[in-house]
Amino acid sequence: MRLSTLATLFFLLPTFVSAQNGDPQVLGNSFDFWRKMPSGGWDLTRGNTAGAITIPMTSGGPIVVQPNTTAMVIIDMQNFFLHESLNGDPKGRAVVPATVNMINAFRAAGMAVLWTNWGLTEFDLLRMPPAFIKGFSRDGTSATSFGSDMGTIVVPKDDPSVGATSSTRGQNTTIQVGRTLMRGSWNAQPWGPLFDEQVKGVAAGTDFYFNKNRLSGMWGPGTPMQTWLEDNSMTTIFFGGVNVDQCVWGTLLDSYYKGYDVILVDDISATTSPSSATGMVDFNASLNGWRANSTGIIPAVQKKN
Ligand SMILES: *[C@@H]1O[C@H](CO)[C@@H](O)[C@H](O)[C@H]1NC(C)=O
Ligand SMILES: *[C@@H]1O[C@H](CO)[C@@H](O)[C@H](O)[C@H]1NC(C)=O
Ligand SMILES: *[C@@H]1O[C@H](CO)[C@@H](O)[C@H](O)[C@H]1NC(C)=O
Ligand SMILES: *[C@@H]1O[C@H](CO)[C@@H](O)[C@H](O)[C@H]1NC(C)=O
Repeated sequence: MRLSTLATLFFLLPTFVSAQNGDPQVLGNSFDFWRKMPSGGWDLTRGNTAGAITIPMTSGGPIVVQPNTTAMVIIDMQNFFLHESLNGDPKGRAVVPATVNMINAFRAAGMAVLWTNWGLTEFDLLRMPPAFIKGFSRDGTSATSFGSDMGTIVVPKDDPSVGATSSTRGQNTTIQVGRTLMRGSWNAQPWGPLFDEQVKGVAAGTDFYFNKNRLSGMWGPGTPMQTWLEDNSMTTIFFGGVNVDQCVWGTLLDSYYKGYDVILVDDISATTSPSSATGMVDFNASLNGWRANSTGIIPAVQKKN
């Protein structure tokens, strides 16, 4: 019995594989493939078409995705990069409402919401390469880089997402900013309403949080996020956050290298870099996968329900 089951498997497997490979509309192998649709665009469901969602892309679409193997990931929307008292990026703060809309649409469609942020440990500090210490130093020394104490800031008590000014109404409160990008510090928390979203989503089991210790959340042989993606059979990832040409790009590119389908969401991403940097990202993201705006994605995701 056992032998014949095995034999069947060995005879059937190559047939199935070659059936997929023999069809020029199918890209990949029998376990991991895209199907080019006659009407244009791509079916990324790997054959799991039950409950699939068709999402328009700005070009090269639409794509058809399987909700239970599709996730969005929000990268580095942390106080350190966004808060105005820490010279954070106003362009990053401006994409927060669209980010929250995407999060809600993904949750409602049963698609995972992932967060990956800088969240260093003492062990990470010990192993941090010089180039990274320099890159995150405010004065070129290690004294102002990862793990250094950032002192305090004063914020309005009723809204810690902004800095206190002379025209701030009501009482102020003083916040310990914490050690630069260390796990659990205030500066490493998501900015403004995103912190509540993350806490709420993780508690509800719709969202998942992963610390990272490099720009990319998917580097090397494996990260906490990659392990989760593998454990949960994920294939398709939508990306947003800051900076689109650095941590978002690094995470997108490593995900692409590791075989995930990648979609860059323009209007939930931002950067402080010159526009030429975004130009490179836009150009290459379209080659690696797709680009779209949340305003195009959300109605398609909502239509499913
Ligand atoms: C996702 O849904 C499809 C269709 O309902 C099912 O065949 C597949 O096993 C599911 N995959 C996971 C990882 O839950
Ligand atoms: C709050 O802080 C700002 C900036 O330091 C200051 O100008 C303002 O007077 C403070 N408000 C109160 C009520 O202390
Ligand atoms: C990005 O795009 C440029 C052209 O603008 C190309 O030369 C380069 O190889 C691409 N880089 C990556 C990492 O995809
Ligand atoms: C997203 O919207 C902005 C603003 O309208 C536009 O400039 C950009 O090209 C759009 N991106 C995509 C991928 O459609």
